[in-house]
Amino acid sequence: MLVAHMSPAMVMKSEESYEDNDEREVYHHQYQKGVKQLVENGRIHTLPQRYILPASDRPIITTSEEQDDDSNFVGNPKIELPIIDFFELIGPNRPQALQSLAHACQHYGFFQLVNHGISEEVIRKMKDVMGRFFNQAYEERAKHMTSDMKAAVRYGTSFSQNKDSVFCWRDFLKLLCHPLSHYLPHWPQSPMDLREVAATYAEETNNLFLKLMEAILESLGIKEEEEDEDEDDNNNNIMKKLEEGGSQMMVANLYPPCPEPDLTLGMPPHSDYGLLTLLLQDEEVEGLQIQFQGNWLTVKPISNAFVVNVGDHLEIFSNGIYKSVLHRVLVNARKSRTSVASLHSLPFNCTVKPSLKLINDANPKRYKDTDFHTFLAYVSSREPKGKDFLHSRKLTSFTSH
Ligand code: OGA
Ligand code: NI
Repeated sequence: MLVAHMSPAMVMKSEESYEDNDEREVYHHQYQKGVKQLVENGRIHTLPQRYILPASDRPIITTSEEQDDDSNFVGNPKIELPIIDFFELIGPNRPQALQSLAHACQHYGFFQLVNHGISEEVIRKMKDVMGRFFNQAYEERAKHMTSDMKAAVRYGTSFSQNKDSVFCWRDFLKLLCHPLSHYLPHWPQSPMDLREVAATYAEETNNLFLKLMEAILESLGIKEEEEDEDEDDNNNNIMKKLEEGGSQMMVANLYPPCPEPDLTLGMPPHSDYGLLTLLLQDEEVEGLQIQFQGNWLTVKPISNAFVVNVGDHLEIFSNGIYKSVLHRVLVNARKSRTSVASLHSLPFNCTVKPSLKLINDANPKRYKDTDFHTFLAYVSSREPKGKDFLHSRKLTSFTSH
């Protein structure tokens, strides 16, 4: 089966019948409601077994001497991500800015985007409305619970709550965005302003993504020309497809305070599937870590900046020149953390393949052509682990790469 097509009603029904069974299943039912509900109902002081990672997968959380009790920070070694100034990228200094962009994508897979032109108000409203969504009664949020990975709206917990053997400490709301007129009527109607605020945010982040992608193509030395239109099958003119309407999914994440943060994670190590992800981190509470030269390093939040990262599809399209990077989320005992990620890629019915312009005798094709169907089938069939999916798309003679 490709995806477990269960309606929310079916999920709720099968869970209700658990309650008559043994105590463990009652707890299972509890976990399905998410971590916010667990924390609010349970007044728990220790981490339930279901969330405890095997010792080898646990984070090492260090708190430094100078941190006082009020600190918002999880400690740990930090990484200063490259900063890309969007204003420079669209101005007369574009050539230098493109070099910085290429360096960031090649060596970090991540950068902080500043001066991006999306107003503080649009950002503040988006964070605010998502905060209010999570603050609603459980019954209101649960209206959108489904295990259908293709649903226009999906509220849930952990990564994939019907399959995860160990749960992670996060609740989420996922919204599909393109075409907006198709998806908007399915989005939550409560809070009342959610649709309007999130639609504006979706449009503005998508416009920013398009500008960034243009710059990324230029940084790869790919100039797309009109004639490429005939070569649609060859995946050239990716910009044309994106401008006509790529895929976009927004994910609001909530990581409530966790009684034993060193035994679990808010999100396990993963790479994002799309071309680029634009992430709004919590401004005050750290948590995002990226893997850099074999170490897990914490990304310091910068006010109003987007943390942008290379996704699997860009790794494939660039034939491995730019690589998606593993990242994960730490939780902490004192503060709730929220983030909003916007994942952008080609339309769901497209195939992603290495750009012909980056393939030659010296640089043979390193990845298989990949479509969403294959991706969904893969992630539905197992628990996601690191960059497993992408590795499965590598052409075997080049796996050493
Ligand atoms: C994601 C993600 C990081 C965060 O949503 O894919 O990596 O800080 N989020 O919440
Ligand atoms: Ni991610």
